[in-house]
Amino acid sequence: MALLEVRGLTIRFGGHNAVDKVDLDVEAGCVTGLIGPNGAGKTTIFNAVTGLQEISDGTVVLAGRDITHERPRQRSRLGIGRTFQHLEIFGGLTVRENIQVACEIRRRWAHDRAANVHDDVDAILDRVGLRHVANDRADALPTGLARLCELGRALGARPRVLLLDEPASGLSDRETEEFAEILRALAAGDLAILLVEHDMVLVMDVCASIHVVDYGALIAVGTPAEISQDTRVVQAYLGTKVARDGGARPTSRSDSLPAPADPESAAASSLPAVLELRDACAAYGRIEVLHHVDLTVPAGKVVAVLGPNGSGKSTTLKIASGQMSLSHGCIHLCGRHINGTSSDALARIGVCTIPEGRGVFSNLTVRENLVMATYAGFSQGEIEDRAYSRFPRLRDRRSQFAGTLSGGEQRMLAMARALATEPVVLLLDELSMGLAPLVVDELYEIVAQIARSGVSILVIEQFARIVLDVADLAVVMVQGTVTATGRPAEIEGMLSSAYLGVSA
Ligand SMILES: Nc1ncnc2c1ncn2[C@@H]1O[C@H](COP(=O)(O)OP(=O)(O)OP(=O)(O)O)[C@@H](O)[C@H]1O
Ligand SMILES: [Mg+2]
Repeated sequence: MALLEVRGLTIRFGGHNAVDKVDLDVEAGCVTGLIGPNGAGKTTIFNAVTGLQEISDGTVVLAGRDITHERPRQRSRLGIGRTFQHLEIFGGLTVRENIQVACEIRRRWAHDRAANVHDDVDAILDRVGLRHVANDRADALPTGLARLCELGRALGARPRVLLLDEPASGLSDRETEEFAEILRALAAGDLAILLVEHDMVLVMDVCASIHVVDYGALIAVGTPAEISQDTRVVQAYLGTKVARDGGARPTSRSDSLPAPADPESAAASSLPAVLELRDACAAYGRIEVLHHVDLTVPAGKVVAVLGPNGSGKSTTLKIASGQMSLSHGCIHLCGRHINGTSSDALARIGVCTIPEGRGVFSNLTVRENLVMATYAGFSQGEIEDRAYSRFPRLRDRRSQFAGTLSGGEQRMLAMARALATEPVVLLLDELSMGLAPLVVDELYEIVAQIARSGVSILVIEQFARIVLDVADLAVVMVQGTVTATGRPAEIEGMLSSAYLGVSA
């Protein structure tokens, strides 16, 4: 009998079965995967297991005890811990304090007078590798470390089963590899881990078995090798490309790099520049984070900015979108100097940003979110038609509050709304974050189409593999400087050394 057993789990929203008779077995001592397309019901399953979501039918059994009707607090005490798809930590507390809060709470309810919270916190800091930032405020951490802080907080309650909802989204390749090591070590300590994650290299690498859901129903259960060969799974989730590249157990992330892009892209550099940064420097307070950056986005081309976390990619995007000003150098849009121009003024002249994360108004419906884009001069009907033809699943959800959409559906809505404004330059931050592999492929195909229609695109992406497929030019940034610029095929070979340069 598995430590956590879910049987016949069903959750209805109105007439729609978001989860439909799902069975799950999560064993101690290993990582179990739960994968599926955006909106398949993964987060809803987590909410049901932790007691946050009322269920329509089914049972949840932990170590032989039926906990289906227990309150969330009681389930947590019995050993169910979790992290959230959208980071939940106390930003104003330090990393140490975040973990300490969880340890203190556990000590109180467990009446564990013998527990030494200080030692417990230290042990967790070591397990998740956060000792070096223990006294930093959580909201000052880069995404990767903030996710580890949330993991540390979850461990503070000493769970027996740990549910992780997209813990690797926003992590660089190197951070993801380190994260895989942490997961293996935790599982080896007899924890049962249920992992929801769209990063297939990670899932295939760490999971002993994988459950696949689609439209709320379980469509397959098996080992990574079995799952990657399953035709239903490939069709519903992985897509042909991932099935081809991802394999059962890729030996390294760089193995799945795509074939070099079209050599025609060499001509890109001779096209007129739409967005141009020259000798650009930028600082947060007194700390300069961009040093003399030169970057050109030609008309109708896709330029990818690659590099490890903290290398200055997002700062470059903030400069281009008017959220930050340069301290030195200049930025031009179609030949016009735009340094110091506000974000809203830039938006009106066609600079459209799709930020990292959700970027939707949670308490408005899908349709109301799309109405926002009518400022650009199109009718609501036109905007809705275009949005639903690009993202068909939003059509059925048009009257649903955006806050209740799945993570990926929220991302699609943000994208649909931005594209409705017909921008001159599109700035994309971590486009693939939170999206299923098939959707990422489709979205990048849309990006390529948009570029072909004449829009210039600057895209920041952790997954070099995906973006190099559609980019015309790529720029590698390391520690605030551009270390390489070139065609995807040229850049591909340099990537690992550029990244390794930082870790060395
Ligand atoms: N309160 C609600 N009312 C109506 N529909 C809902 C509600 N909450 C979730 N849904 C729908 O249930 C479906 C499952 O959502 P869920 O968040 O579980 O998906 P997911 O598998 O986690 O997807 P993702 O990978 O995008 O995060 C989605 O289509 C979502 O829109
Ligand atoms: Mg989800």
